[in-house]
Amino acid sequence: MDFENEKFRKIFFEIYEHLPRGGPGDAESTGKAFALIKNLSGHPEILDVGCGPGRQTLDLARISPGKIVAVDNHLPFLERLKAAAQRAGLQERVRVEEADMFHLPFEKEAFDLIWSEGAIYNLGFENGLRILGAFLKPGGYLAVSEAVWLKKHPPKELKANWDEEYPAITDIPENLTMIGKCGYVLLGNFTLPKSSWMDDFYTPMEARIVEVKKRYQHDQEVMDMMPYFQTEIEIYKKYSDYFSYEFFVMQKG
Ligand SMILES: C[S@@+](CC[C@H](N)C(=O)[O-])C[C@H]1O[C@@H](n2cnc3c(N)ncnc32)[C@H](O)[C@@H]1O
Repeated sequence: MDFENEKFRKIFFEIYEHLPRGGPGDAESTGKAFALIKNLSGHPEILDVGCGPGRQTLDLARISPGKIVAVDNHLPFLERLKAAAQRAGLQERVRVEEADMFHLPFEKEAFDLIWSEGAIYNLGFENGLRILGAFLKPGGYLAVSEAVWLKKHPPKELKANWDEEYPAITDIPENLTMIGKCGYVLLGNFTLPKSSWMDDFYTPMEARIVEVKKRYQHDQEVMDMMPYFQTEIEIYKKYSDYFSYEFFVMQKG
């Protein structure tokens, strides 16, 4: 589907703006990744890149003592996060900023920790490691989740789908090589559980698709877009042993 198509973009956000998360993830995995970080400064400056609706931003604010700047280029997500931070009494420690991750408006070496769940793919994994690394203090930490192959030789249908959506997806060893090449020391990595794809992402997306289909039942152009969203979910259900998101936690060397 073409994200340049205005109507597609509108429908995409009519679905995504109503989901708890913008991608696979869960509070437990955010906590598990955070626990891999030792010796973080007492008052860390944290950047959350591609924060989306910001579930992980709030989870991070609850488990770390730091101040978090959460950036995304989609304003409605930021407004939602800002309101949620206020409701949770975290507004003093969570600030949102509309920004393009390709042109982050921060000083170099400004952050103790950079977090990015399911969003570094926008930059490309290796390119993203380099771009984000420039904003880390020496010895700072980077925690990202990234789509990976879990098995070799994916079935044709699955491979074709990823070739369409994110042809740069690769396996965990290849990602670890890039991490080393970019000068990071790996602190740990783990695969997100299947529940983190379904509970707060694909299950609510399925429900949202039903609502959107009802609303646009007389708009054939929109109805023709729906298989795009449904196929993504079906592909996951059918082939979830072949791919997932991997959390990588590392320290700038
Ligand atoms: C898959 S979602 C993940 C959102 C969130 N981290 C989560 O796990 O729920 C990717 C996010 O990256 C944001 N994004 C995409 N391109 C971006 C860019 N160039 N600059 C900033 N944010 C971007 C999207 O708006 C979206 O919120």
